[in-house]
Formats: sequence, C-alpha cells, structure tokens
Amino acid sequence: MASKRSESALGRQPNDLESYWLPFTPNRAFKRAPRLLARAKDMHYFTPEGRAVLDGTAGLWCSNAGHSRDPIVAAIQRQAGELDYSPAFQFAHPQAFELASRIAALAPGDLNRVFFCNSGSEAVDTALKIALAYHNVRGEGARSRLVGRERGYHGVGFGGISVGGIVANRKYFGSLLTGVDHLPSTYSREHQAFTKGDPDWGGHLADELERIVALHDASTIAAVIVEPMQGSTGVIVPPVGYLERLREICTRYGILLIFDEVITGFGRVGANFAAQRLGVTPDIIVFAKAATNGVIPLGGAIVDRRIYDALMRGPEQAIEFLHGYTYSGHPIACAAGLATLDVLARENLVGRAAQLAQVLENAVHSLRDEPNVSDIRNFGLAAAVELRPREGQPGARGREAFARGIEAGLLLRFTADTIAMAPPFISSEEEIVNMAESLRGVLRHIA
Ligand SMILES: Cc1ncc(COP(=O)(O)O)c(C=O)c1O
Repeated sequence: MASKRSESALGRQPNDLESYWLPFTPNRAFKRAPRLLARAKDMHYFTPEGRAVLDGTAGLWCSNAGHSRDPIVAAIQRQAGELDYSPAFQFAHPQAFELASRIAALAPGDLNRVFFCNSGSEAVDTALKIALAYHNVRGEGARSRLVGRERGYHGVGFGGISVGGIVANRKYFGSLLTGVDHLPSTYSREHQAFTKGDPDWGGHLADELERIVALHDASTIAAVIVEPMQGSTGVIVPPVGYLERLREICTRYGILLIFDEVITGFGRVGANFAAQRLGVTPDIIVFAKAATNGVIPLGGAIVDRRIYDALMRGPEQAIEFLHGYTYSGHPIACAAGLATLDVLARENLVGRAAQLAQVLENAVHSLRDEPNVSDIRNFGLAAAVELRPREGQPGARGREAFARGIEAGLLLRFTADTIAMAPPFISSEEEIVNMAESLRGVLRHIA
C-alpha cells in the first residue's frame, strides 16, 4: 500500500508495454514477444536474464569502440556534474570548440568548419540547408535542386527522405521536397555478385549526373548527396571510379558534393572518413553515430572553409545562417565525443578496423555456398550477406535469420533479406570469425 501511494504521489504509472511506440519496429509483433536488453559491456549485450549476445553490428553502426567504455562513461559523468547544459545560441563552452577542432583535424582537405546537431537526420537537413544558403548568398539562388540516389538512406527528416531512395520510407509522406532528382542505384547483382571490396562494374553510372544536368541545367542544381558506401540498404560498395567521376562532374558545374558519412565516419572503412579511404574530397561531410561511440546523440556537418566564408557576410551583428538546435554542441555530447576520439586514438582503433577488414572479408566470403546466399559484399569493417527471399514472402528470411541469430547469441542487422555485419573495432580476430561461423549455423538452421 505504502509503495502504491508513493508511486502515485510521484505521478508514476505501473509499467506496461503499451505506451512506448517503437521506431522502425513492428510494434504489435514486438509487444507480443518483447526483446529487451538490460546491459552492455565491450563486445556484448546482456538480456535482463543475463544472457550474453555478441554485438555483430556495433549497436546500430555506432558503438565502434565497444560498449560502456570507462573513459567515455567517466567523461560524461564529469561533464554532467560540471556544466549540464549551456544555451546553444549566443553562448558556447570550451568542449564544443575543442571537439570541432579535433573533428576538423581528422577531416580531409579544407573541410574544417563544423556545425553540430543531434542525429544523422538533422545533420543531413543541416548540410542540405547549408548548400542552398551558400548558393543563395552568392547570388545563385536558382540553384535549388537536390540530387540523391536510389537506395540511399539519409535519415527520416523531410530533407533526408526526399533525397533518400527507399520507397517504403517515402511513400506515405506526401510530395516531400520538390525539385529532387535521383541517380540510379550502383548495385547490380548480375555484374557485381560476390565481389570482394569495390566492384569494377558501375563507375559509368556517375555519368547519369550529366543527364540530370543536361535536363535541368547546372544553374538550377545545388548539391548531390550520396553515402560513399550505402550502409542501411545493405553495404552497397561504390564501384571503382564512381565517386571520382561524381566529384569531377560536380566540380565542373559548380554543384556541391555532400558525403553522408553517418555510418562510414570515424573509422568504419579503415580511415577516419570514407572520403580519405577513397581519395575523393566532398564539399561537406555529414556525420553522427560513432562520433560519441553511440553514447549520447551528436551529429554534424563538416563544411569546406570556402562555404563557411561565403556565408560570413552582412552586418557583423546579424546571424549569418539561421539554423540550429537547442542541443547543438550539447556539453555532455561534446564530452562524449572528445573521450571517444581519445579512445580511438589511444587504442589505434581506426588502424585496427583496417586490419580487421581483411579478416571480415575472408570470413564472410566463406559463406558463399551456404543455403540461399545470393550475394556477399564487404567494405572496410562492414559486410552484407544477401539471401534469396522466401517464395512470396520478401523479408521473411532476413527476419528469421535475425531472430535465430539472437537465439544463437549473435546480434545481426537485417534489411529485408540482407543481413549486415559491422563489428566493433575492438573485436578480436577470433570474434569476427565466430560471428561468421555463427551466421553459417543460422543460415543452415533457417534453410
Ligand atoms: C547514412 C545515414 N544517414 C543518416 C542516418 C540517420 O541518422 P539518425 O538515425 O541518427 O537520424 C543514418 C542512420 O542510419 C544513416 O545510415
């Protein structure tokens, strides 16, 4: 009785499964058989019953240095006690400057101005708005068209779903942004199946941008946004020469090139950014996820200095770019970001990701002859195994593989019938081999 009274005095309701509306999850099925995680440490999640699940996907591609790492935990605890929040507008705090400079130092070329926000979706919207504003202030306001790519995932804001190329994420939400074109997907099973690393076929598809330019005229096109490696739609690796060609065409026509590195940023492909691994420098890089090791939401846009400089005009007391979030550069997120960069550097985890990439490649490609495997792709420390759909039930086999993986103690990711793996960079070689072996068992079990 006493405890009931005190609960109601605090306004608490009994716990139930109904109120929480889960994102990107079949809510009714989930609530019939909830899947809960209670704890995580290093390479493992633990269920409330204490069962360990090996993390084959770094959470959602974000916990690259492993879970609940002491230095990151200590940094956010310290920061919460020192400066819990500072207004993002008209104020700043030292950690925001420090994190921006540290990120700028990791980025390629002259990409050294960093705008903070809280997620990949916000970072994408931020980058698109910067591109539009940049052209506007230079007297090229007619450059308003944006170009994305089929099968691209750029989060769930209206900007992101407009330039994104996932039909299911777009079709319920009206006309989206106007003036958006899409490059064709670079994926072709016929020409690329079972390629290790970047496929030779497909570089020519960048020339589709020439077609879009010819159709609309370059003077109407603001920016092209692509993920260097498409992660969410199943580790679709850029064909040799493709991004170089996009870069050439954008430069020729004064179109800004934006790389969405929300998944690839901070080491996933064995370099700080995919831009460096691939030797192609965009005008803006979008990041989020691994920037804080997934501990606290933080995203942002790393912008070429000339774009920032172009926007620094007008009366000095006037706000140059009318955009920002209450939590832009949040002190605790910045503390987490700084501690994450320290861990990555101290443990040489980006170098380690590059070394482990070869182990992952060998391990996943050994699954080629397992039941229902139709393709295997890999790039850096990311890999995907594509399965033939069950007759008349697209997505069922992927879902079964995911569920069976959890039963077998392995966290995988699935998008329709594609299984993705993105191990934390602290994985041992043995753990990566075990992940692939465990997946082999899963594929045989659900055959
Ligand atoms: C390439 C890319 N861009 C944007 C996003 C959206 O990020 P968020 O879920 O943090 O909004 C994601 C998320 O997976 C992503 O992979």
